Amino acid sequence: MQTFIFALIMAKQEDQFKKVLSHAKEYGYVFQSSEIYDGLSAVYDYAQNGVELKKNIRDYWWKAMVQMHENIVGIDAAILMHPTTWKASGHVDAFNDPLIDNKDSKKRYRADVLVEDFREKINQKIQKDVAKAQKRFGDAFNEEEFRATNQNVIRRQKQIDEISAELTRVQEESDLVGFKQLIVDLGIGCPASGSKNWTEVKQFNLMFGTQIGASAENSTQVYLRPETAQGIFVNFLNVQKTGRMKIPFGIAQTGKAFRNEIVARQFIFRMREFEQMEMQFFVKPGTQKEWYENWKGSRLKWHLSLGMGEENYRFHDHDKLAHYADAAADIEFNFPFGFKELEGIHSRTDFDLKAHEEFSGKKLQYFDHTENKSYVPYVVETSIGLDRMFLAVFSNSLQEEALDNGTTRTVLKLPAVLAPYKAAIFPLVKKDGLPEVARKIMDDLKWDFNVFYDEKDAVGKRYRRQDAAGTPFCITVDHDSLEDNSVTIRHRDTMEQKRVAISELKEIIKAEVDVKTWLQKIDS
Ligand code: GAP
Repeated sequence: MQTFIFALIMAKQEDQFKKVLSHAKEYGYVFQSSEIYDGLSAVYDYAQNGVELKKNIRDYWWKAMVQMHENIVGIDAAILMHPTTWKASGHVDAFNDPLIDNKDSKKRYRADVLVEDFREKINQKIQKDVAKAQKRFGDAFNEEEFRATNQNVIRRQKQIDEISAELTRVQEESDLVGFKQLIVDLGIGCPASGSKNWTEVKQFNLMFGTQIGASAENSTQVYLRPETAQGIFVNFLNVQKTGRMKIPFGIAQTGKAFRNEIVARQFIFRMREFEQMEMQFFVKPGTQKEWYENWKGSRLKWHLSLGMGEENYRFHDHDKLAHYADAAADIEFNFPFGFKELEGIHSRTDFDLKAHEEFSGKKLQYFDHTENKSYVPYVVETSIGLDRMFLAVFSNSLQEEALDNGTTRTVLKLPAVLAPYKAAIFPLVKKDGLPEVARKIMDDLKWDFNVFYDEKDAVGKRYRRQDAAGTPFCITVDHDSLEDNSVTIRHRDTMEQKRVAISELKEIIKAEVDVKTWLQKIDS
């Protein structure tokens, strides 16, 4: 029975995810890259609406991170960097994924992802048991007690803990033989074919290499950056000196990063070319734990300000820390395929700056006037994938709503501050001077907001199109507008329609889409 329920949940998740994919294409948000040539795996293009949503998310981050903090500034470093950068950062030697092939299906997988997915299935069984018990016991239900006493939950949790411990061990010790043994011991089959006929586990470097130079003899091997962070580290002293920055201070950057991902699936969740929004916060050694907790809190608040449901976020504190980190956590989001990493917050110690000092022979130190001494600062990093944030916002917003009249509507309830178009303007009919009035409203509003004009089809159909595209307001000009200078404004989420003066439109829209209103929620 439980397997059946689990299969049903998975089918429902897959179904919802398929809807997200087709909606993203149909409404001009995301296209497969080079689609006419059958596409390029894990590479996507943002379409006319997608590019606006993506820009609005980036701006929302930049406003909160850079412009609202006097001690954080931005840069835009180049994608190509001196190749020694990647030697110093450890990416040449250690930016690897453990790979395993299935000999029968010829499919390639990340060994850690196979184990993690297996573990997540056990976790979902626990969630199911908890949900069932909660339903049975109602208000009297005590989840903590249930988890501590229910034999099925105890057994499954023990299994999860054992898997986690062994996964951490094989990763930390780079024990590739042990990695394969773990997969064999857990009886994990190929997700495509079920076959358990596996090769050994191998390491695979994720960086894309290319050449700079005109001829083969004189060319230099360079890499497309796999993270934007290193562009910040190598500019640390330039920014500190020219900006006369005092510790603690931050440097932020948004930009493309590239990884030759092996398991490229789940749409824009894991791409080969993607965009990061990162901030490195330079602090006095010894204060990093405090700043780490501080940034964990502020980043969660930033997410919550968008109103996508507190229950859809959770922290995952890392047991296995990278060699350079003394603390790390992910903010996970409830994607259509379950809770997955959306953002990472890492306390990176002085590892990167010290490594760049060593490899470049240049000092990367800060003179602290209050202490009267120089030191290499410690760094707390916040790093979020813009494309992942896009997927979180888009998938969470896409809803099918049952209406009172027995029909359904598809509505993309994007947070209004992020919506590509803030309002769509319609003349009721394409004659009698109505388009002229609608155009005039459009010409006035476009100075303040991105607005859309549509005069095709019946007005009800136009409303539905804008609901599905995520536009928060529709404004309809009718024959009365010619007499009384008023229009009908319809709200996407409530579908409520109100008659308002044309002169009031700007304020009504602003009240709902203004960045200030949204970001102020962080402090309240
Ligand atoms: N500088 C630290 C760093 O790059 P990361 O955990 O590897 O850390 C940070 O990446 C964020 O970048 C992730 O939380 C995720 O949102 C995003 N990201 C990483 N790989 C990605 C990929 N292949 N496709 C889309 N987003 C990715």
